[in-house]
This record gives sequence, structure tokens and C-alpha cells, in this order.
Amino acid sequence: MARILEPTAQSIALAAEAIRAGHTVALPTETVYGLGADATNDAAVAAIFAAKERPRFNPLIVHVPDIAAAQRHVEWTPLAQKLATAFWPGPLTLVLKRRPDCKLSLLVSAGLDTAAIRVPRHPLAQSLLREADRPIAAPSANRSGAISPTRPEHVVQSLGDAIDIVLDGGPCLIGVESTVVDASGEVPVLLRPGGITREDIARVAGSVKDAQAGGKLHSPGMLESHYAPSLPMRLNATDVTPLEGLLAFGPTPLTGAGLTINLSSSGNLAEAAATLFAAMRALDRPGLERIAVMPIPDHGLGEAINDRLKRAAAAR
Ligand code: TXA
Ligand code: MG
Repeated sequence: MARILEPTAQSIALAAEAIRAGHTVALPTETVYGLGADATNDAAVAAIFAAKERPRFNPLIVHVPDIAAAQRHVEWTPLAQKLATAFWPGPLTLVLKRRPDCKLSLLVSAGLDTAAIRVPRHPLAQSLLREADRPIAAPSANRSGAISPTRPEHVVQSLGDAIDIVLDGGPCLIGVESTVVDASGEVPVLLRPGGITREDIARVAGSVKDAQAGGKLHSPGMLESHYAPSLPMRLNATDVTPLEGLLAFGPTPLTGAGLTINLSSSGNLAEAAATLFAAMRALDRPGLERIAVMPIPDHGLGEAINDRLKRAAAAR
């Protein structure tokens, strides 16, 4: 059974040693908790897929401590430089061509000639990356298809019997996964909305393209049903019944639900993103028949929130 370890020099050293030895470690990032392993070790990367029970191999995000470390693995572009300078460390993942001398496991790329790289901001992730001295591949630390973990105890609930160590970094401040952008060309292509908004990227890069659904650039993991609670979900609710749990947003929540959790009573999208996954878990309980969700504005972080909600609602 997994142990949740307080962040100390000792526990970080223990986790770093485990990474170097080819084991998996759950680590906090500012977006969600990741299930990490040495990205240069095929067997270690395979162990991530085994623990998550992923039905097939999706490419994984590789975490590194800084831009210089990223440049060792992928072909850097002027666009990558612009975006990394603006948003790293932070919730942005760049998809770039693997360098011919790239040492990353081919399994992290799942057969593609690209790799997805990010520099997390969370101090504990930074410490672990530096102490382990390895790039760390890490998908969200949940079983495939389930809600991403934003607290250490979520990781234990989902993967407790499959992993040994969870580093405790507290609740994740951003709460939705990183934005995934293909930065191999001249214009950024948005593969997955996330913690950095489309508007932020457009401001820095001039414009943003959308990935075509099913197209070559489409992020493979986007095809999976994801983030699903076990109760069915109903979006854009304008009324609610006592048998429903209500995921509310804004100063005037609907009345009459069996249980209500407000993502942000002030209508703040960053606050809503940070509480989204924990709120979905809290409403996913016996005695309720469904989760009703009030409309969330689709600008800024609302795009990532609505993307996750749509996936959760479509899951069955
Ligand atoms: O915030 C996050 O991004 C978290 C934390 C732990 O860093 N990680 C995460 O990983 O969400 P995961 O495996 O759940 O999602 C990775 C996403 C998927 O949508 C996947 O398809 C995409 O990144 N991706 C990875 N490598 C790719 C590649 N070479 N080309 C296109 N998309 C890629
Ligand atoms: Mg995930």
C-alpha cells in the first residue's frame, strides 16, 4: 500500500533513488499529481502503463527542470523558445520533434517521432527532478479513465495498491492538466486546453491553431474518455432535483439539489479549475443518481474546465 511522505530532504532523496532504480513515484505538480518514472528507462515507463491499466499506449509528458534540459531531448524551435520563456516553469506542455540523439524511451512517444515536454513549477517537482537527475515521464496519477488527482489522498484511493511512494505537495493550485501545444512549426497548435489559456498563448505567439479532430496533429490521449465519475453527468443545468448533486458556479447557485458544491461563488474561473476534480469526486457518492452542472463561461480557463466536463459527461 502506498505511503504518503511529507516533503523533507530525506523523502525527496528516497523518491529520487526510487526513480533512478526504475520504480514509479507519485509526485505533485501545480496542475495534478503525476505518476512518475525515469523517462529514459523503457521498463520504468512500461510500469507506469501497467499501474494505470491504460488500455493502450498513449504518449506521456516528460518533465524536466528547465529549458536547457528540454533542449537535450527535442528539436528546439523559435516558437518553443517564445512559449517556454513566457510560461515555464508552469502548466504548459510543448510537443516537439525528438532529436536524432534523443535518449528518451520510445515508449514515452508511443511510436510518434515527437515528445511532449514540460517544466513544472511546483517546488517539490523541481526538487525531485534535480535530485533524481533524470527526465521524469508522468501522466496523471489515476487509473485510466478516472478523475485526475489533485490531492495526495486521491492518488492513494486510485493507485494505492500499485505504487509505493506518494510525495505530499498538498492540494494542486491549478487543478486542471497542462495545456498541450504542438510547437514544432511556426504557429502553435492547441492539442489539449489546460492551465495556460488559449488567450495567453495567442498573446505571446500572435495566433493559435486548433487541432483537427481525428487529424494527425490531434493529441492521441484526447480520444480517450477521461475524467469520469461513476455517476452520469448532465451539463448546462438550469434546474436540479433532490436526487442530483449540483456542481454550481457563480453567486446564484440553483436550489433544490441533494448536495451542492460551488466551484466558485464569486465566478472566478481559476478558483473553479482548482476545485473541479475534487468537487466531482465529492459529488460522486451513493444516494445521488446524477451530477448536474451549471453552465461555465467558455473563455480563459473555462475552456479547459468545459473540455474536462464534456469528457466526463460523454464517458458512457
Ligand atoms: O498537467 C499535466 O499535463 C499532467 C501532469 C502530471 O504533468 N500530466 C498529464 O499527462 O496530464 P497525461 O498522460 O494524462 O496526458 C498527456 C497528454 C495526452 O493528451 C497526450 O495525448 C498528450 O499529452 N501527448 C503526449 N505526448 C504527445 C505527443 N508526442 N504528441 C501529441 N500529444 C502528446
Ligand atoms: Mg490523464
